Order: sequence, then C-alpha cells, then structure tokens
Amino acid sequence: MYGNDYETPDAQRARQLEDTPESFRELLATEGRVEPRDEMPDAYRRTLVRQIAQHAHSEIIGMQPEGNWISRAPSLRRKAILMAKVQDEAGHGLYLYAAAETLGVDRADLLDALHSGRQKYSSIFNYPTLTWADVGAIGWLVDGAAIVNQVPLCRCSYGPYARAMVRVCKEESFHQRQGFEILHTLSHGSPAQKAMAQDAVDRYWFPALMMFGPPDDNSPNSARSMAWGIKRHSNDDLRQRFVDMTVPQAQALDLTLPDPEIRWNEDRGHHDFAEIDFTELFEVIKGNGPCNQQRMEHKVRAHEEGAWVREAAAAFAAKQAAGEGAA
Ligand SMILES: [Fe+2]
Ligand SMILES: [Fe+2]
Repeated sequence: MYGNDYETPDAQRARQLEDTPESFRELLATEGRVEPRDEMPDAYRRTLVRQIAQHAHSEIIGMQPEGNWISRAPSLRRKAILMAKVQDEAGHGLYLYAAAETLGVDRADLLDALHSGRQKYSSIFNYPTLTWADVGAIGWLVDGAAIVNQVPLCRCSYGPYARAMVRVCKEESFHQRQGFEILHTLSHGSPAQKAMAQDAVDRYWFPALMMFGPPDDNSPNSARSMAWGIKRHSNDDLRQRFVDMTVPQAQALDLTLPDPEIRWNEDRGHHDFAEIDFTELFEVIKGNGPCNQQRMEHKVRAHEEGAWVREAAAAFAAKQAAGEGAA
C-alpha cells in the first residue's frame, strides 16, 4: 500500500503479478495446480526452492532436540513413540527434498547450502530440550504451530509441495497429540512433574509464536507469495489462529500460558495476546540462539560420517541397474 491510498486485496494481487506471464496468471486465477512440466516464472521457482529447502532442512534439524531424549524417555512405551515421531520427521525431510528436486535442483546442493549457512532452518530448533517435559511442549506447541502453518500449504499452487503436505499434516496431528498427552500426564502427576510441565510451556510459548515469522508489516516477501498462491494466509492471521486453538487446550491441560494479557475479545471473536518481542527471533536467525552452533556441528558430522552409506547405496543401485540391463 502506498501512502494513505487503500489498495484492495485484488489490486494488491494484480500489482504483485504485473511481470508474470499471462498464461501463468490464468493458471493461478483458476486455482489450477502448477506441475513440474509447466512453464513457470523464474522468481516463482526460486521462491519455492528456497521455501521447500528451508522446510526440508527444518524437518531434519528438528530431529535433534527430541532425538536427544530417545535414550532417556521414561518408559519403553514413551521411547517407542518418540522414536517413531523422530523417524516421521526424517520422512518429512525426504518428501520435501524430493519435492524440491522436481524444480530442477539437486539435493546434494541444498545440503551444501545448509551446511555452509547459505540456507536456513526454523529457529525453533535452536532451543535446548532441558527436561522430558520439553518433549511434550515441542509436540504440543511446535508441532501444533507447524500444523497451523502447513494445513493451508496442502492447497499451495505447486502440486508436488501441496501433495507432500497432505501426508505430512496427518503425521503432524499425531505428533501434536503425543505432546499433549505427555504434558497431560505430567500436569496430573506429582507437584514436581506439574512444575516441570509448566516450566517447559513457559520456555516454549513465545518461541512457538515466533514460528509464524515476523509481523505482517515486516514480512517483505509475503504479499508476493500470497499472489502466487504459495502462501494462503498472513503470518499474523496464522499466529492468531494458533493462539485461539491453543488457549482452550492449555485449560484442558491445567497449565498456564506465560502471557497475562491473553483474554477473549468478544468484539474481535479472537483472543488478544501480548505484543511479541521479535528481537530474540532476529538474534536466533543471525546464529546467536542457544544451540545454533551445536545443531550445525552435529548435522555436518552426521553427514560426513554417513558418506559411506550414500556411496554403498549408489553402488548397489548401479549394480541393480546393470543387472536389469543384462537380463
Ligand atoms: Fe514434521
Ligand atoms: Fe512433527
């Protein structure tokens, strides 16, 4: 919007698409799906590669904070569930790298970009998991925020990304419930267990709210992504949706959200909540979060130590292909 002139959403959308070829605009206007074989503007392709790669990296790095608790989960049942959850996240990363590859990039290059710091992953995974309750808070709040972010991506204009999200979202809702169940058990346990659950929620609440990105007036690429049908709702709308969904769940858990300003606003039909201090988010993005260095070191080491597995798999595939050719 320029000056005080009000620009309607349609006008804003048209302005964002000014330099987009006519055929592509028509495809978007009819809510058609863009498939890998379709011609697409370079900027659309680049935006998707960046977003899908960052999403894939987040799934893979996101295995670390919880993977850290597999050996220390309090029972065999909890271990089995957590192992399955962390394994799901690896699967999400793999679908997403495959979706990115349909845009003509190589997975090895995306991994290089992550390892050298040219591409990012979600800042939420730069926070430590100090107690078992953190595993519950991550499932409930972090996977919960991921669902709110990802459900609209099932309708994203790029087919392979949208289809990957359908499956991912089904698994995420299981993750969210397992987190809720861990916290429910703790908050109905001993006073010490309840305090541990509350402490985890206190530490993860604001970082989870920041997962939706900066406020709309400070989110430079949002309007374009919305015009392209990649993004369906603004950061602030999604954040509001998450708060509205989470407040009654916190009551069911008998835990408090660490924001005294949360209250139902009858006029808006939404919960009000405190203004978020985004300085912390920008610091974590810059690399100054509590675990940035540890996460990257671990990732690079795992990648190097896994080189022989990739080589063996490639050699096996080549042998299979040669065998089939001879038959
Ligand atoms: Fe995931
Ligand atoms: Fe998840």
